Amino acid sequence: MRVIIEHDYDHMSKWAARHIANTIRAFHPTSEKPFVLGLPTGSSPLGTYAELVRLYEQGYVSFRNVVTFNMDEYVGIPEDHPQSYHTFMRENFFSKVDVQKENIHILDGNAKDLEAECARYEEQIKSFGGIRLFMGGIGADGHVAFNEPFSSLASRTRVKTLTLDTKIMNSRFFDGDIRKVPSRAMTVGVQTVMDSEEVLILVNGHTKAQALQKTIEGPVSQSCTCSALQLHKKGIIVCDESACDELKVGTYRYFKDIEGANLDVEAMLEK
Ligand code: GLP
Repeated sequence: MRVIIEHDYDHMSKWAARHIANTIRAFHPTSEKPFVLGLPTGSSPLGTYAELVRLYEQGYVSFRNVVTFNMDEYVGIPEDHPQSYHTFMRENFFSKVDVQKENIHILDGNAKDLEAECARYEEQIKSFGGIRLFMGGIGADGHVAFNEPFSSLASRTRVKTLTLDTKIMNSRFFDGDIRKVPSRAMTVGVQTVMDSEEVLILVNGHTKAQALQKTIEGPVSQSCTCSALQLHKKGIIVCDESACDELKVGTYRYFKDIEGANLDVEAMLEK
């Protein structure tokens, strides 16, 4: 696992966006060979989306041949509800870049047969040869997508009941009223995320410090589904200083040192 510790949210977002843009550029996507990108919602990726939009506007990266799959969606709220993940993605990213409508995939939280919709989603991902890079956030309890604690680490796309903790956390988007927060969501599974060629998780702020500590230093455990990242061949966490508050000093220094050394090598190679 690679852990990038940036000074603050802004630097974390810039690092993540630059990494995503560089990975897409290096892939040279075409319509026959599109780049498949997994995407999250939430407050953590907002800065990354803003920076990706900026890089697009500068002509640094194009999303024309990028196929996207979102992580999750609430069950039972209209697609155009202000808090649906369809709306979030349109407002914060899709409407601002050149991604093609037909290349966007988001679970349909109003499908008649939710189970069939989940199975269809997994098949669609497969039909594009899997996800190249999955960006994600993390819940305060260490969940990835909506894979709440004790979700199977082998799980695939399915319907999940949200925990009270998650409903309380997410009520900030629903007028602070947990009765307005949907009780269920559809989400890609932990295994769906882990099957991607690369996983990039954003972790910022002190409220995520325990989740980060468990993810990096704890055992691989279904009680913190993001800890499955320890088993991934190419897992990257990019975080800010405040999220590191619960890490051991030794762990913190190790990742700072190793990334510092990487930067020195990169600088040397550029000379
Ligand atoms: C929700 C989403 C997750 C997200 C998490 C944290 O539960 N399903 O994908 O990572 O919230 O959200 P935030 O980034 O707003 O802290």
